[in-house]
Amino acid sequence: MVKQRVLTGITTSGTPHLGNYVGAIKPAIVASGDPSIESFYFLADYHALVKCFEPERVHQSTLEIAATWLALGLDTSRAVFYRQSDIPEIPELTWLLSCATAKGLMNRAHAYKAAVADNEAADEDPDQGVTMGLFSYPVLMAADILMFNAHTVPVGRDQVQHLEMARDIAARFNHRYGEHFVLPEARVDEHVATLPGQDGRKMSKSYDNTIALWLPEKQLRKAIMKIKTNSQEPGEPKEPDESTIFSVYAAFADQRQRQQMRQAFADGIGWGEVKQQTFELINAELAAPRERYEALIHNPEQIERELALGAERARALSRPLIERLRNAVGIRALR
Ligand code: TRP
Repeated sequence: MVKQRVLTGITTSGTPHLGNYVGAIKPAIVASGDPSIESFYFLADYHALVKCFEPERVHQSTLEIAATWLALGLDTSRAVFYRQSDIPEIPELTWLLSCATAKGLMNRAHAYKAAVADNEAADEDPDQGVTMGLFSYPVLMAADILMFNAHTVPVGRDQVQHLEMARDIAARFNHRYGEHFVLPEARVDEHVATLPGQDGRKMSKSYDNTIALWLPEKQLRKAIMKIKTNSQEPGEPKEPDESTIFSVYAAFADQRQRQQMRQAFADGIGWGEVKQQTFELINAELAAPRERYEALIHNPEQIERELALGAERARALSRPLIERLRNAVGIRALR
């Protein structure tokens, strides 16, 4: 049986937070244990350059995100774990695909259109601050995916359009040069909880409401204590489904714990106590990986070794494919 290939990229422009963990990293690591799938997870460092112009930050984020996946137990003997920029066939494929991509298709990309709309609203030149990197971002992403003929790409809702573009680009290329690419499909996981941040909105860097994943214990507790609640007193029954702290608790709890916490809300548990229990639950889950994380961060050579092995496995696939594609487009030896 052909295994389902699942692939996803993580842009290396920030520090991992609890929302990334609950919404993406944890489910991906669990999924990679499924024997019927072959998973490809990579650090999208070329993508980071589109929006982050601080070299130290890109570098530090790459280290932190790589250490995070390894500390959380990604089994790299199963999943192929690599850094995008270690695969020179990806930028090469990006060019081949660019030449099969309609500019009109890229004009419709949400991120690009939003930048233009902001400029127009501010009475600026519509292309103010728009780089070719931002404009052709979806082609690079298509190359990431098509390079490994992934069937399924788990992404957030905001990335679904990019997957449609990847399919469109793949289909055009196939039509012109023969059936080289699988048409990939986005998978937006509906039941993975989106974790709220301290202010109750979705935890996101753009809202500045995140809790970093690897805070030391004391700071983690403090950050959880800052999650917004209403002014109900201990003893008053509380409504879990309107409570941010309940959602955070629930994202880490099993069925039985959730049920018990619901009961505690009905019985009037105080907010301080809910927060303390939430802290203890999260901390229990993260304490052991946190130690591994600290060790890895201080031993980047070990991370480099993992990434080098991942790149070798990835390139065992990308080299022959790019060879076939070069041949297909007419770039070959003159003999
Ligand atoms: N653009 C994705 C994001 O911002 C990251 C990414 C880059 C990606 N290449 C990818 C995701 C390929 C899935 C597949 O979240």
